[in-house]
Amino acid sequence: MKLVTTLAIAAFALVVSAGSAQAGDAAAGKTVYDTNCSSCHGPSGKGDGPVGAALNPKPRDFSAGSFKFDADKSGTPGEDADLKLVIQKGAAAFGGSALMAPWPTLSDGDIDNVIAFIRSLKQ
Ligand code: HEC
Repeated sequence: MKLVTTLAIAAFALVVSAGSAQAGDAAAGKTVYDTNCSSCHGPSGKGDGPVGAALNPKPRDFSAGSFKFDADKSGTPGEDADLKLVIQKGAAAFGGSALMAPWPTLSDGDIDNVIAFIRSLKQ
């Protein structure tokens, strides 16, 4: 009985850690965000960074948690896959503003992490 419990806990821990690795690490994403994104999207994601304030359209307000582009054409905008494509290819590739430029310098992992951080800004 004790062994079964131990195995069950081990299996659960495995699933949890695999799940979070896939979803991205918000704490690591904050570093990516502060370096590359906050000048426009603002330190708390409200689209009110020093550069963003003057832009039209305004950078997306991440505290609202709603997104525009259905980049992978799945029928639902704002999924992780959509945000990833917008960050990789830029919003102009999906009919949006060229001000949201592509980020070819960010790795896959960086993008997953920054998406996790953006999600955490929703209020
Ligand atoms: C030069 C200013 C600027 C910078 C820097 C910038 N963005 Fe944006 N971002 C924008 C603007 C403007 C929009 C709105 C585009 C539109 O609606 O056409 C936007 C929109 C977005 C969206 C919304 C996509 C959707 O479907 O609604 C996401 C996600 C995003 N940016 C992520 C990022 C990330 C991550 C970074 C940093 C790696 C970043 N942005 C850096 C200006 C910027």
